[in-house]
Amino acid sequence: MGIPGLLDSRSAYGLVSRILHWSLALMLLWQLTGMAVRALLGRHPVSAFFVGMHQSLGTAIFVLVILRIVWMLAMRGRRPDHGNGLPAVAAKAGHAALYALMLLVPSVALVRAFGTTRGFAPFGIELAPPREEDVEALVWLGNAVHGTLGWVLAALIGGHVVAVLIHEALLRDGTLRRMAGRTRNSTAGPPSPGIDNLQGRKDAAGGTDSYARTS
Ligand code: HEM
Ligand code: HEM
Repeated sequence: MGIPGLLDSRSAYGLVSRILHWSLALMLLWQLTGMAVRALLGRHPVSAFFVGMHQSLGTAIFVLVILRIVWMLAMRGRRPDHGNGLPAVAAKAGHAALYALMLLVPSVALVRAFGTTRGFAPFGIELAPPREEDVEALVWLGNAVHGTLGWVLAALIGGHVVAVLIHEALLRDGTLRRMAGRTRNSTAGPPSPGIDNLQGRKDAAGGTDSYARTS
C-alpha cells in the first residue's frame, strides 16, 4: 500500500515525519544560532548573515509546523510507543511542549509583524504595508513573549538532544534509529519499549537487546 516507509510505524518514524523533523530542526537551529550570535556580537556582518532571513525563515517554519501538527494527528496511534511510567510521561510532555513552542514562538511574532511600522514582506511578498504607528493590540504579545519563549524553546531543544544522547550512550534502546535509521525496522525483536521508558527496559531485563543497534 503506497510507498513503503512513508508512514510511521510502531518501530520507526516514516519518511514524511523524518523530513518534517530534520528540516524543522535545521531551520530552528539556524534561527536560534542567529539570535545567539546577534546577542553576542550585536550589529555585525556575521549577525546579519544569520538573522537577515529571520522573518522569512520564521514564516516558513510556521507553515511547516502546521503541516507537522496535521501529520502528527494523522499518524497518532501508529507511531513508536513511549510506553508507561514517569519517564514516558516526561517524554510525551517534552514533545508536547516542543510542539506548543514551535507553534507559539512564530505565531506571536507573525501577529506582531502585521502591526508594525516596518511592514511585513516574507520572501519579498508584501503581506502587510508599513503602519503609520504600531498597532498596540497586535504588537504587545509579540513584544512581551516572542524573544523569551524563543530562548525557552532553545533550552527545551537542548534537553531533547541530551535525552537522545542518554538513550544512545547509556540505554542503547535504538531511539535515534527510530528517527534516523532505516524507515522499516528489519531486526527481529519486540516493539520498542519507547523513549525514556526506563522502567520498561528494566522490566524487559535484556529482552530489548535484540533491539540494540546493529551498526
Ligand atoms: C520558530 C521560529 C522563530 C524562532 C525560534 C525565533 C526566535 C527568536 C529569538 C530567540 C529572538 C531573540 C530575542 C532576544 O533578542 O532576546 C527573536 C527575535 C525576533 N524575532 Fe524571532 N523567532 C522565530 C520566528 C519569527 C518570526 C516568524 C518573526 C516575524 C514574522 C520573527 C521576528 C523577530 C523579531 C522582529 C525579533 C527582534 C525583536 C524581539 O526580540 O522580539 N521571529 N526571535
Ligand atoms: C532542533 C529542534 C528539534 C525539535 C523541535 C525536535 C522535536 C521533536 C519532536 C516533537 C519529536 C517527537 C516526534 C515527532 O512528533 O516528530 C522528536 C523526536 C525525536 N527527535 Fe527531535 N527535535 C529536534 C532536534 C533533534 C535533534 C538535534 C536530534 C538528534 C540528537 C533529535 C532526535 C530525535 C529522536 C531520536 C526522536 C525520536 C524519539 C522517539 O522515538 O520518540 N531531535 N523531536
